[in-house]
Amino acid sequence: MNNSLKTFLKHTAKDFHNQSVNPPVVRASTIIFKSMQHIRKTQAKAQKNPIGGHYDYGRQGTSTTHILQKILTKLEESYHVFTTPTGFGAVFLAIFSITRPGDEIILTDSVYSPTRILTQHFLKEFNIKAVFYDPHDLKTIEKNISKKTKLIFVENPGSNSFEFQDLGKIISIAKKNKILTAIDNTWATPYYFKPIKFGFDMSIVSATKYYSGHSDVMGGSLAVNKKVFNKVKTAERNTGLRLGPDDAYLITRGLRTLDVRLDRHSENAKKVAEFLSKNKKFKLLYPYKKDSYNFRMWKKYYSGASGLMGLKIKSKNTNSVKKFVNSLKLFGYGYSWGGFESLALHQEYRETGNRKYLNLAKDEHLVRLHIGLEDPSDLIADIKQALKHLK
Ligand SMILES: Cc1ncc(COP(=O)(O)O)c(C=O)c1O
Repeated sequence: MNNSLKTFLKHTAKDFHNQSVNPPVVRASTIIFKSMQHIRKTQAKAQKNPIGGHYDYGRQGTSTTHILQKILTKLEESYHVFTTPTGFGAVFLAIFSITRPGDEIILTDSVYSPTRILTQHFLKEFNIKAVFYDPHDLKTIEKNISKKTKLIFVENPGSNSFEFQDLGKIISIAKKNKILTAIDNTWATPYYFKPIKFGFDMSIVSATKYYSGHSDVMGGSLAVNKKVFNKVKTAERNTGLRLGPDDAYLITRGLRTLDVRLDRHSENAKKVAEFLSKNKKFKLLYPYKKDSYNFRMWKKYYSGASGLMGLKIKSKNTNSVKKFVNSLKLFGYGYSWGGFESLALHQEYRETGNRKYLNLAKDEHLVRLHIGLEDPSDLIADIKQALKHLK
């Protein structure tokens, strides 16, 4: 029987051996064997089939982490998924697997700011050069390709600016030039867009966000195709970047309701976006305006939109912007997103970096909203009352 993904997520990870509907949390540094021969047999199996879930030491995972990897591999429709202690760990693992001193990486100029800092500053110390392209002018990728270019790193939509790129064009540029590709797909998750199936070599998701869904755990996933598997496996083995079993369990638990939660985040965000789009005080950064390039690019490649959006506000009265954010009662103030709850964050022009699409002027502000699972009419009423303060 070929069940849908929604059914698969509900029925996966049952433990018939222990007669439990949920898998056990297997915590182990030492993996115990019946005999020395048993160890050798397992190691031979692992050599022959490196994605088969054979392990001889806790750093390679336990049955709990392997269950999560199996679920994610199915969700991603990828060759394999590596899991890391944080989403940013997955970003690092992807880049570290592919690049060496003397190489160059081309990245979206609106990547998540720690990704920008890692590649622009930290990797510079290892003689790895980062160049950034304009997500709405892909000729800037072609212009920057050299013999040293090893990786095109995409983030879509742009971090906090939410512009969408022509992903098909990026893949064809990369293939023509025989350059590997990675995408940070945290905003959509493979529930709304499957990068490996589409042609990317690597796909990153911060499991801290929608996968876990409850703001109580950190983790990351790096899905790969067969072509890059060995490179990533080598880097993983040599860095020890591995998710622990307790965190893996929580993420597995979250994944059971990923579809239900994302569908609701999306539905709620659409209602809030409809309300926000009527307000002339700001520009809404979310795929809603049917005649816009961003909407067309989103529609072309994605089957849905998650709950994270931005407001670009022009106001000389910074205090009024802060007052608007501070007056929200149902939105918590804090970093991260993807949990059940609504969140708000205010960013000034200095914090968004040097980027083409959303280069904030001194009198411009970005307010990021994560639309949670509350009743959307309550969220709209809350935003309405807070907007009275925006001047
Ligand atoms: C788009 C994106 N990628 C990666 C990360 C990093 O994930 P983590 O916080 O799990 O390290 C974040 C975190 O906010 C993010 O927003």
